[in-house]
Amino acid sequence: MDIRDYRASKDLRAVRRIWKECGWIKNIEEDGTFVEPFFEAADDALVGILDGEAECAVHGANGDITYQDECLPMGGVMAVTTSRVARKRRFAARATAELVARQAISGMAVSALGMFDQGFYNQVGFGTGSYEQHIRFDPATLTIDSDFRPPRRLEAKDFAAVHAAMCHRRRTHGSVSFPNADILKAELNWIEEPFGLGYFDGPNGELTHFIFGTAKAEHGPYEITWQAWQTPTQLFELLALIRSLGDQVYSVSMLEIGDLQIQDLLRQPIRNRLSNEKGEYRSGSDSLAYWQIRMLDLPHCLGKTSLPGPDVRFNLTLTDPIEAQLPPNASWKGIGGEYVVRFGEQSSAESGRDSSLPTLSASVGAFSRLWLGIRPASSLAITDDLQGEESLLNGLDRTVRPPRAHPGWDF
Ligand SMILES: CC(C)(COP(=O)(O)OP(=O)(O)OC[C@H]1O[C@@H](n2cnc3c(N)ncnc32)[C@H](O)[C@@H]1OP(=O)(O)O)[C@@H](O)C(=O)NCCC(=O)NCCS
Repeated sequence: MDIRDYRASKDLRAVRRIWKECGWIKNIEEDGTFVEPFFEAADDALVGILDGEAECAVHGANGDITYQDECLPMGGVMAVTTSRVARKRRFAARATAELVARQAISGMAVSALGMFDQGFYNQVGFGTGSYEQHIRFDPATLTIDSDFRPPRRLEAKDFAAVHAAMCHRRRTHGSVSFPNADILKAELNWIEEPFGLGYFDGPNGELTHFIFGTAKAEHGPYEITWQAWQTPTQLFELLALIRSLGDQVYSVSMLEIGDLQIQDLLRQPIRNRLSNEKGEYRSGSDSLAYWQIRMLDLPHCLGKTSLPGPDVRFNLTLTDPIEAQLPPNASWKGIGGEYVVRFGEQSSAESGRDSSLPTLSASVGAFSRLWLGIRPASSLAITDDLQGEESLLNGLDRTVRPPRAHPGWDF
């Protein structure tokens, strides 16, 4: 099985064919607005070769993720695809493992992805992220009394402005960002029936706050897939703008905005949910944990972690399943091993063992979830691969409590 770097001149058409077979694009002869710029913008892209043709393609882009007030380098696994003729030959698992190993070697502290389903990427060490709330509401029920100005229309060709606004948006714990604007260009070009509205209030006329999404039919539902703002005043202007659509549009859906609770700003949410439970314009929310994360460098992650305490120190026996997916001669084989870890105001992790300390055993996926605050230690001990004595789990529950992580960027 041969896995090598993607080369546009040789592989672009084959990759388009893979994407067509996966149902991601409609036409192999697409107009160069999606697959080509998307792969051009990759920091790393690999293909699996079968009979001389690329039949598997993985795409990685580097970005960053916030841990409370800190920012860590993050590799994104942006796309993993295998054609119809090469499935179940371990192409995808091995190419993903290779991509993740490259991200670790290039200095990324973590890797993250949006999953097609849970289980597959656990094989290379990923653990599931937070529930994301997908909310639907009648825009006319927004209780915003702010005013709004006429916005400017945005289209996919405005990707550079949209990307800059995304990079400068208000960020909360676990938010991610990708500095290469061409990644977003491809994403915006992928949106069917797009609509975008925004305000260019920056000191040099930069886009500061906007919504961008898909407008399906006359009365909606409208789906907002991208949004950014820097100040509460800008957010309220966007919400007032969304409310203004409510004379015509019966339903708007979007992911919950960061750490806010949009229901706070809706009139009679329970009445509206119950009176319109099954229709196309129903109100309410669903939740799903659809992204995953794994640490690539434990000392780096812990070095950026500051928690109010009390300090918890322990031995960590960490297992990393990625090793089984990498070739025997790989220079990076994951981060499994023995560490002494401290969670507290100045957290740390160093290789070794201290016989005076209790021991926590965990897979890298489960420990990454604990670190990022997806679930407390005592919960992960029930549903994931993490074990330790009760007093240690209780200590971790008290100290490791960062806010709920939300990427805020569809990738
Ligand atoms: C997902 C996809 C990339 C897998 O490609 P592949 O090259 O066949 O994958 P691999 O051969 O490396 O691995 C397949 C194995 O993973 C297993 N697997 C798949 N989904 C799984 C899951 N959710 N949980 C656990 N194992 C899973 C399969 O059962 C299979 O195991 P088996 O060979 O023992 O039967 C391919 O199906 C695809 O391109 N799908 C459409 C595009 C897509 O959704 N991509 C993912 C974007 S996040």
